[in-house]
Amino acid sequence: MILPSSYLIIFFLFSISAWAQETVKKSRSPIILAKSGGFQIGGKTIQSPNNQSYTLSCDHGYMEYFIPWRPRKTSLVMWHSSSTQVWQNRWDGGEGYKDMFLRRNYPVYLWDGPRVGRANWGCEPYIYAPTAVDQANFGAWNFGPRWPTWWPDVQFPTENKAAWLQATSARYLEFDTVANVELHSDAASIAADSGRVGKDIVYLTNSAGGLRAMMTASKANGTNIKSIVSYESIGYVFPDNANVTAGHGGFGPFVIPLERFKKLAKLTSIQFVWGDHRAENFTSVIESRLCASLINKYGGNAKVLKLGDDAGLKGSTHIPFADLDNAKVAGLLDEFLEDAGLDEYEDWDEQE
Ligand SMILES: *[C@@H]1O[C@H](CO)[C@@H](O)[C@H](O)[C@H]1NC(C)=O
Ligand SMILES: *[C@@H]1O[C@H](CO)[C@@H](O)[C@H](O)[C@H]1NC(C)=O
Ligand SMILES: *[C@@H]1O[C@H](CO)[C@@H](O)[C@H](O)[C@H]1NC(C)=O
Ligand SMILES: *[C@@H]1O[C@H](CO)[C@@H](O)[C@H](O)[C@H]1NC(C)=O
Repeated sequence: MILPSSYLIIFFLFSISAWAQETVKKSRSPIILAKSGGFQIGGKTIQSPNNQSYTLSCDHGYMEYFIPWRPRKTSLVMWHSSSTQVWQNRWDGGEGYKDMFLRRNYPVYLWDGPRVGRANWGCEPYIYAPTAVDQANFGAWNFGPRWPTWWPDVQFPTENKAAWLQATSARYLEFDTVANVELHSDAASIAADSGRVGKDIVYLTNSAGGLRAMMTASKANGTNIKSIVSYESIGYVFPDNANVTAGHGGFGPFVIPLERFKKLAKLTSIQFVWGDHRAENFTSVIESRLCASLINKYGGNAKVLKLGDDAGLKGSTHIPFADLDNAKVAGLLDEFLEDAGLDEYEDWDEQE
């Protein structure tokens, strides 16, 4: 039998599309966005000391957003301490949290606090003094006990020179000072209360971003902040009745009025996440347990998650969501969001 060519074409298209659908199911769903963009928020406008007619708008934060076509309700605000790059890709260039959670239909926000990244328009002068810090970062990011010794099970492509170069160069100047923690949390709390980041915010933070997110939640007056998931947070916030002495540096401890601390207890849930190569006696792990117990004492829901002991993951770095096994780390976040009831979809009707 000779089929007319149009039948052949239709048959051919059908089989291609069936094949494509099968492939999508097996690999991953596409990212379909309703919109993306960014905005500046917080900060101030200062006048020239020479002539008050001339001003500078400065010290704001920068928020870039990606809103899925059919979004869930929860906004994931990805808050770095080194650079937004850590949220964008895995160490080997593979998929990072940004795309992973866009595929899951969460609105994703990438935040640069005042003076870092794309918000580097500060109200005060600052100096960038280049120092040979790559090898110190090796230790700080827990690639191994010390440079050049990798943890044998490390979730980093140790033989991949390009990955090492990416990791060491993807940095912004970071200001680990008390003043900068205040500056970042001032801008972020204004952003949270503004409603421009959604009504259900979950901060995903790394390193010194965790402290800043806690300070933000203690400053915001609205109810938009629902949760914080801190990956390896260095520096914690304590109430002023807990006999904790405030530190003088940018990693705390920060001691705040009890009334502000109690705002952390109002969040749906808080999770402090640690990799398997962090010992229980590491200062920040000790602080995270104390902070969680104080939050819970005031009726909150804070937990410490050890990726090794509690979830069986091995070789996690300081930035586990960029690790080679970040799909497993993301799976744990899925569970966390589900347990907290933060995985629901927007009603389709509410959309324009
Ligand atoms: C300030 O600048 C404005 C606008 O250029 C100018 O009109 C004014 O004379 C200046 N004032 C002083 C004190 O220089
Ligand atoms: C929250 O309220 C306090 C007290 O009125 C105020 O000082 C603070 O600036 C407010 N926070 C924000 C983010 O607006
Ligand atoms: C408070 O902390 C100090 C220093 O760690 C300690 O000596 C003191 O006993 C503590 N006080 C209370 C009431 O826990
Ligand atoms: C933590 O404990 C280990 C032994 O379990 C010890 O070797 C190490 O020095 C301790 N570190 C700190 C910071 O106390």
